[in-house]
Amino acid sequence: MRVLYVLLGVMVVGAWAQVLPKITEPPCDSPEAEAAAAVFQDYINAQRTSGFKYAMNQIDEIKIKITPDTEIYNMEFDLLETKCHVLDPRPLADCPVRTKAEAAVEADCDVALTKSGGVLVVTAHRCESEPETSAEDICLGCAHLLPLNDTNALQMATASLAAFNNRTANVTISKYAVLEVGRLTAQIVSGALQLFAEYAIVETNCTTTDDDNCAPLNKTLATYGFCTAGSVSGNVSVDCRIFTPEPAVEPATNGTVPLLMVDMGLLSAESAESLDPVVASLIPIVKRQAPAAETVAPGSQPVNLPFCPGKVKYF
Ligand SMILES: *[C@@H]1O[C@H](CO)[C@@H](O)[C@H](O)[C@H]1NC(C)=O
Ligand SMILES: *[C@@H]1O[C@H](CO)[C@@H](O)[C@H](O)[C@H]1NC(C)=O
Ligand SMILES: *[C@@H]1O[C@H](CO)[C@@H](O)[C@H](O)[C@H]1NC(C)=O
Ligand SMILES: *[C@@H]1O[C@H](CO)[C@@H](O)[C@H](O)[C@H]1NC(C)=O
Ligand SMILES: *[C@@H]1O[C@H](CO)[C@@H](O)[C@H](O)[C@H]1NC(C)=O
Ligand SMILES: *[C@@H]1O[C@H](CO)[C@@H](O)[C@H](O)[C@H]1NC(C)=O
Ligand SMILES: *[C@@H]1O[C@H](CO)[C@@H](O)[C@H](O)[C@H]1NC(C)=O
Repeated sequence: MRVLYVLLGVMVVGAWAQVLPKITEPPCDSPEAEAAAAVFQDYINAQRTSGFKYAMNQIDEIKIKITPDTEIYNMEFDLLETKCHVLDPRPLADCPVRTKAEAAVEADCDVALTKSGGVLVVTAHRCESEPETSAEDICLGCAHLLPLNDTNALQMATASLAAFNNRTANVTISKYAVLEVGRLTAQIVSGALQLFAEYAIVETNCTTTDDDNCAPLNKTLATYGFCTAGSVSGNVSVDCRIFTPEPAVEPATNGTVPLLMVDMGLLSAESAESLDPVVASLIPIVKRQAPAAETVAPGSQPVNLPFCPGKVKYF
């Protein structure tokens, strides 16, 4: 009887040890938090097919649940919209974030990551993007966002692309079509309304000498680009960059690129997000060996240290 009783006690203790995971809350500027932020930043930019790339602005919260096999990170991030379209092959480091005067857009993201075998993977996320405090509050005459169906701004965009397609009227090169309007803004400058449009373009099967029935080229063949256009009192100016075809459009497959795209079918339950879910990226992270004493620290409670949110990178 006594033996059985003791055995039972051991089993119960063993079960408790398994069930109660350790929860830690490292500082938001700790290497763990920043490694996870970097993984999420790469993930969100690799995964989206429309809109602009986002840059990490601040880590708001981190909780790590440690179980024998995995570490589950629950985090909250603030990111800021950059001026690079997601199809733009420029690395994020070369993509300036929009200032408040340029009508900044912020994304608040709740993110779950799982670290197992030293690899940190995004397993779920939910983001909401919204204009940073209305630019009009900050300065009179700053740009403010227009809805993406604004008729006048869209007409201006169409006219600007016609001008771009007409730039070399006697050379037979491809015509481009609007792929996606990314941003429309308006600004009052010395009493005059200026409209601005930013849009991605896709190559069509027409040349500049063809007139109608232009269809976007097959995704694998088309080149893409990005235009910024503006108009003052009806005078339209446009500046388009055609991307060199290789990166960004297709996920990198070369072993020299440390970014591996894996479709994990992870549709998050909440679908009201403005940044869409689905794919996960695996990025090898050098595993930090926690000292054994730390891992078995008994009765550890989440400690609310004054180390979150972390530092603000931009504003
Ligand atoms: C733009 O979209 C909004 C909401 O979808 C709609 O209420 C509005 O009428 C649209 N405006 C134009 C000019 O189409
Ligand atoms: C195209 O360019 C020619 C020569 O510069 C100009 O005469 C014509 O009006 C332009 N067409 C459009 C649609 O901009
Ligand atoms: C277009 O053709 C005209 C006449 O043939 C020539 O003078 C002009 O330089 C050409 N323009 C371009 C951009 O090639
Ligand atoms: C482009 O493709 C469309 C649709 O397939 C076709 O109707 C049109 O004739 C093509 N245009 C040219 C210039 O090849
Ligand atoms: C796109 O082009 C590739 C290669 O030329 C071809 O295999 C594929 O069927 C095309 N897809 C479409 C939708 O036309
Ligand atoms: C529009 O362009 C015309 C011709 O280039 C120029 O005379 C006029 O000053 C421009 N208007 C504005 C508001 O820039
Ligand atoms: C992969 O990278 C190596 C070395 O940089 C290069 O030689 C090879 O052509 C690349 N392969 C592809 C498919 O891009």
